[in-house]
Amino acid sequence: MAKPTRARNARGSGAAGKSAKSYVHEQTSPMRPDVGTQAQFRKKKPPVTYRYDSSLSPSLDWDGQNGARELGEWLLALIDEAARIDPPHVFDQPREFRAADGRVVLSIGSLQDAVAELKTLGIPFLNWAGKAERLSFDVPTLPLFIHERLSTKAIVETLVGHRRGKQIDLFSLYGDPQHSITDQVLKAYEYQDNWVNRMILGDSLVVMNSLLQYERLGGQVQMIYIDPPYGVKFGSNFQPFVRRRDVSHNDDEDLTREPEMVKAYRDTWQLGLHSYLTYMRDRLLLARDLLTPSGSVFVQISDENLHHMREMMDEVFGADSFLGVIAFAKTSGLKSSLLASSADYLLWYARDPDNIRYRQLFIRRPGIDDPTERYICVETPNGEVIDLSYGQKTGGGSIPEGRLLKLSDVTSQDPVAALRYEIDLGGRTFVPSARRHWSTHRDGMNALITAGRIHAQGNNLWFKRYFDDFGYKPLGDIWTDVKTNAFGDPRYYVVQTGTSVVERCILMTTNPGDLVLDPTCGSGTTAYVAEQWGRRWITIDTSRVPLALARQRLLTATFPYYQLKDPKRGPAGGFVYARKQNKKGEEVGGIVPHITLKSIANNEPPEEEVLVDRPEVDTSVVRVTGAFTVEATIPTPVDWESDGIEDSGSEQAQSYGSFVERMIEVLRRSPVLHVGGGRTVKLANVRPPAKSLSLSAEALTTNGDEKPVAFVFGPENGAISQKLVHAALQEANLKGYSHLYVIGFAIQPHARDVVEKAADMGLLPATYVQATPDLMMGDLLKNMRSSQIFSVCGLPEIKVHKLAPEANGGSPRYQVELLGLDTFDPTTMEVDHRPGADVPAWFLDGDYNESAHFKVSQAFFPRTGAWNDLRKALKADYDDSVWDHLAGTKSAPFEAGEHRQVAVKVIDDRGNELMVVKPLG
Ligand SMILES: C[S@@+](CC[C@H](N)C(=O)[O-])C[C@H]1O[C@@H](n2cnc3c(N)ncnc32)[C@H](O)[C@@H]1O
Repeated sequence: MAKPTRARNARGSGAAGKSAKSYVHEQTSPMRPDVGTQAQFRKKKPPVTYRYDSSLSPSLDWDGQNGARELGEWLLALIDEAARIDPPHVFDQPREFRAADGRVVLSIGSLQDAVAELKTLGIPFLNWAGKAERLSFDVPTLPLFIHERLSTKAIVETLVGHRRGKQIDLFSLYGDPQHSITDQVLKAYEYQDNWVNRMILGDSLVVMNSLLQYERLGGQVQMIYIDPPYGVKFGSNFQPFVRRRDVSHNDDEDLTREPEMVKAYRDTWQLGLHSYLTYMRDRLLLARDLLTPSGSVFVQISDENLHHMREMMDEVFGADSFLGVIAFAKTSGLKSSLLASSADYLLWYARDPDNIRYRQLFIRRPGIDDPTERYICVETPNGEVIDLSYGQKTGGGSIPEGRLLKLSDVTSQDPVAALRYEIDLGGRTFVPSARRHWSTHRDGMNALITAGRIHAQGNNLWFKRYFDDFGYKPLGDIWTDVKTNAFGDPRYYVVQTGTSVVERCILMTTNPGDLVLDPTCGSGTTAYVAEQWGRRWITIDTSRVPLALARQRLLTATFPYYQLKDPKRGPAGGFVYARKQNKKGEEVGGIVPHITLKSIANNEPPEEEVLVDRPEVDTSVVRVTGAFTVEATIPTPVDWESDGIEDSGSEQAQSYGSFVERMIEVLRRSPVLHVGGGRTVKLANVRPPAKSLSLSAEALTTNGDEKPVAFVFGPENGAISQKLVHAALQEANLKGYSHLYVIGFAIQPHARDVVEKAADMGLLPATYVQATPDLMMGDLLKNMRSSQIFSVCGLPEIKVHKLAPEANGGSPRYQVELLGLDTFDPTTMEVDHRPGADVPAWFLDGDYNESAHFKVSQAFFPRTGAWNDLRKALKADYDDSVWDHLAGTKSAPFEAGEHRQVAVKVIDDRGNELMVVKPLG
């Protein structure tokens, strides 16, 4: 019988056929833009509308506006009709229920289906403000632009000249990049079809929509790990700086006292919990579309909203897709006058519970772990079996020397006659009690007796299950051994998840080579663990600070090299597992025999369990993170010949118009531009200018004398162009403003040049102000008065040194030095110089191609021990000077490439990326 099918049913309810609208992917959908191809993506696709089924809106009153009454009446009529058909009451053709716009919402095949569906209308569910009104929502459809390509191997290879005792000819090295010298010691996993892992800046909703629409990744993700803001203390929990982790739960007041803060994320929502639930439900709906049929999703949450989140996930995934709640010990328990809270939770749901991919994980059994368990005994060397007392089991009394075992019943339920034979042992005869039978046949029982596995106690026989038959137990749903910082898990981010938590989720629900997604990247724990375990990954964050941390964490990480079964297939071919014992005879390999009653009784070799977390390791190899990209919904800041406001056309122009209105509102509520070092530009009277061609807003600055200033906003999904800056400068100059502020999410290098040089060109002075990308999260966010939304960013100052060729007659070489970061204070007209050695990170592209992404050829993390792991791992191979160099401000020498220009990108304390481009010679 066909199951009823429902179109994008967001209520789930656990009834058959929930959520069956299939995702339609365009056959011709283009892939993400790569080298030089951005132009073709300038044409935006229309936004996608995601619908919650109107009949499933939360107000259950049948007279409401939500269509529940119509659906209910339709189902009653169907039941009436079907009851008149002969059993089993199946319609000749499924009956379809259509929404007002003609979409098929539900399809019903039989009387039984109709009754089941009618019942779901009566299931209670969670309601919140705004839910009933949100029957659908639109998500802009944007391509994802590659901003950077990073590869640890490539970076280390540029330093190959520093290898201990070896002078390598760089030229010959690059002549044969396939077999570079580093390949012997330094490896990264590679995937089929040139798959490259991805770190994406943007709102998770928009990015997931891009993955579905542009990249056809619907139904391809094996596991999604979501660690969202917990939806508590709205206005807290963010990390302002790349290097500081000591901030949490600040209130608005604190923010004003520490004006340098930028919110790495702002769980500040206009309607508090109500907005939070809306935000989560939308994202869960798209996440579900990305999952493979055998896929899993985990949501990390605290006890405060666990219950709401579970209700909501029941709606989106279906109650029968719920697979478990895992309680895990959190890093710092919160003190309380009542019960201390010491756990966070993972809610685990399947895309389809009948199809779930699952691998049992095992943990070592730590001797006697449950003293309340009965029949735990010791068998002494002379064969005596001693039942241990509670005191002995809890360490209160000494345990005699011998082998630990547990006595377990050798009978099973029901009086199966053929298995109720007599057994003679030690001069006594045993039969199972009246309602039971022996668990094995007579030969099997004899084999157990011969193996010394049967023990007579009282009137019963018992099977002796030695603890060392299998020294492991299946992992359950309470994880107490996973705190961050335990086992040297370094801490990068204020709200970081312990690697072992994510590791278990990944190992339990994915195979090597599978794709894992985390739309709440933070410091990149999921990406890091996925990288370690040879899973492909995509991770998303709306803020720059966490992405800067995640990028550094991955770029500088080292991992064990798990041997591949089929190197040609990469990790997707699986890892090698082997059976191994140490000197004490303990099983230490990834394959462990599991001796059972059955294997002894049937005289079979014991079954083998694979401990998926113990593959064979090749210790001669240092493994580093494979190549990955940094991408964003904002295009790469290249100089297109565009107006900077996306395509013309009324729809775009309209959307820019409403974006400008929103930005003016934000500026009104947060009328402060942050310069750094605690200094600010304060604004008053922010409003749209009268009759303006290019300007977006005007205001008065209130530092000292009031002065009129003008603003121009860059596009919502693009970088500010030179043309836009020119036009705004001309107009602002003509109208007599004292300063122009150019505000955007990204700016093209030449446009930035014009901004910096405006005053020198005889125009008014101008300043580039970067807007935090989480503004793109739309109307959900309440824009707090004092949060750091707009910041004046510095400009990297670099010097290019020309060096002599390496060999006579060779090409000249170049070396780039980062002198520092200059920030111009628009109020004092002074420049604040920050030395290069003080920036958190800087990257060099030694052959920058303007129409493509930034290719990181060298990466520097001044004054941090970022490269320490790699330094330790490669101690024998590289001079110490290499690592000092990687923490410094001067690049390794390099020859000019095809494009004869370099680009330097500096990551400032607030995670902002600041770029300069310079020609070579
Ligand atoms: C609790 S943290 C995740 C921490 C992470 N598990 C780790 O181990 O570092 C949540 C992250 O989600 C990000 N975030 C919040 N809302 C987002 C959205 N709409 N889109 C993308 N990222 C978002 C925040 O910037 C923050 O970094």
